[in-house]
Amino acid sequence: MKKNFTFSYHEITNLNEVSDLDKDLMYQASEAMKNSYSSYSNFSVGAALILENNQIVIGSNQENASFPCGICAERVAIFSTSANFPNIRVKKIAITANSHNFEIQEPVGPCGACRQVLLEYEEKQNSNIEILLFDCKKIIKIASAKDLLPLYFQENQLKSIKK
Ligand code: THU
Repeated sequence: MKKNFTFSYHEITNLNEVSDLDKDLMYQASEAMKNSYSSYSNFSVGAALILENNQIVIGSNQENASFPCGICAERVAIFSTSANFPNIRVKKIAITANSHNFEIQEPVGPCGACRQVLLEYEEKQNSNIEILLFDCKKIIKIASAKDLLPLYFQENQLKSIKK
């Protein structure tokens, strides 16, 4: 049986269509990118998320000479949120990237690991986390982290009872 998965998102190129809140969140993500520690990849990523109490939490990618030790901007932001504001829901996260080595042609999407992590916090808080991917030309709005990861691994699969 063939099953289909539909993915829809909103692409915005006109800043007049963007709320002041979203503009501010994107500004915060761009500012956060300045603290990227990424001299190995030369690829800087910034993320800013806003909580339901309007607190903003930022993150940027942090690399290490021992390559696997590094961590993406999105996970810095969401783990920091969970550590510091554990019971406050995340409304949305804005993500942007820049490189001194090459031009980035399109807004950068979160890696698979970050999708999985964002999704688990979304499940935990029982409400969607909107994702805004942006560069200087375009904003891509995705309604939920779930949209980015079909057939994802769920924590309840760790607890399935053997029949
Ligand atoms: N990176 C992020 O921060 N977020 C992503 O979703 C994709 C990749 C970082 C990890 C690494 O420091 C650099 O970008 C190059 O992969």
